[in-house]
Amino acid sequence: MPKARSGRRRVNGKIHRIAISTGGGDAPGLNAVIRAGVLAAHNRGWDVAGIRDGYNGVLLPDQYRDGGLVHLTPEKVSGITHLGGTIIGTTNAGNPLCFPMRQANGKLVEVDRTDDLALALEANGIDAVVAVGGDGSLTIANALAKKGVRIVGVPKTIDNDLSRTVVTFGFDTAASFATECIDRLHTTAASHRRVMVVEVMGRYAGWIALNSGISGTADVILIPEIPYDLKCVSEKIGERFAQGKGFAMVVVAEGACPKGGRYSIVEKKVGSAVRLGGIGEKVASEIQQLTGRETRHVLLGHLLRGGTPTTFDRLIALRFGAAAVRALATGKTGVMVALDPPRVRYVPLADATKRMKTVPLDSDTVLTARELGICLGD
Ligand code: F6P
Repeated sequence: MPKARSGRRRVNGKIHRIAISTGGGDAPGLNAVIRAGVLAAHNRGWDVAGIRDGYNGVLLPDQYRDGGLVHLTPEKVSGITHLGGTIIGTTNAGNPLCFPMRQANGKLVEVDRTDDLALALEANGIDAVVAVGGDGSLTIANALAKKGVRIVGVPKTIDNDLSRTVVTFGFDTAASFATECIDRLHTTAASHRRVMVVEVMGRYAGWIALNSGISGTADVILIPEIPYDLKCVSEKIGERFAQGKGFAMVVVAEGACPKGGRYSIVEKKVGSAVRLGGIGEKVASEIQQLTGRETRHVLLGHLLRGGTPTTFDRLIALRFGAAAVRALATGKTGVMVALDPPRVRYVPLADATKRMKTVPLDSDTVLTARELGICLGD
């Protein structure tokens, strides 16, 4: 671990060099944030380093042949606004608050390495950080802010589950792609007179499932916020077939749960969040048994994270990147950039990470789904 050159950097000291970190699952728009952040910093005469793979570039620099930091010049960020992914890499397996470390006895345990991280940032001459990420990355940012690191968060996630911002970038692209997939699945469902079950990501929030399901005219939408009963779902499917509609479309969020049941979990590894998944297959098999109708399932999974960001996502990503640098330039720290249309404003990181933003059951989107006759599984 590098030695700190001096005491913790003064929060009101002059900025010469900032770092950008992208953490957690990638989301369309990350490169647009990086580009805006780099250009806004460059225009202020600041140097910018991209930390590879979350914070691994400074915590585990020896793992990188060319070093754990990427010098981000305006040339390096040219032509990347429309690209999915992140040019500096990301990880959702190296959270410094619960970093996986192997003990002498061979056992992997989770260790808080935020002190090491704050020192490493300082040792690398980094005066301030723009941390782009979801709840995990912003919780790390908040911990670093408490340790005196100058840091501004940018909310990213396809799941849209961060509170204190109207929306996160990445969500619009993911929900739009899910809608397109549901549209495409309609023709094959109708041609084969089948029930199609589409599983989408979203963790413990049903935003992607609800928005794409309504927009893609699904008959059933199952979200984590409303525990489902497959008897209601089967009745709805039975009614549709009885009305002569020869197929049915079911959209299931990966975090959906049966009434009194549990989340469908793929795995839990030390140092990583629980991986959800598999509910689509289970729901499809039960629907087939209950209705006697041929049923197929499709997992959209990581496809939702790829591709070109929509105009909406690109624009807020660019606005967020520029606003994060503006915040640092005006002495702000420990805040997250947030969309509060028509403005971008700043909210304390501590508030932004306090609670997950799930779908409110009394929202007009949920009411709209019910009024359109969509079954929500209850
Ligand atoms: O948070 C974004 C997300 O795509 C979730 O919707 C999903 O549960 C998770 O990441 C999947 O993560 P991984 O990339 O580890 O499979």
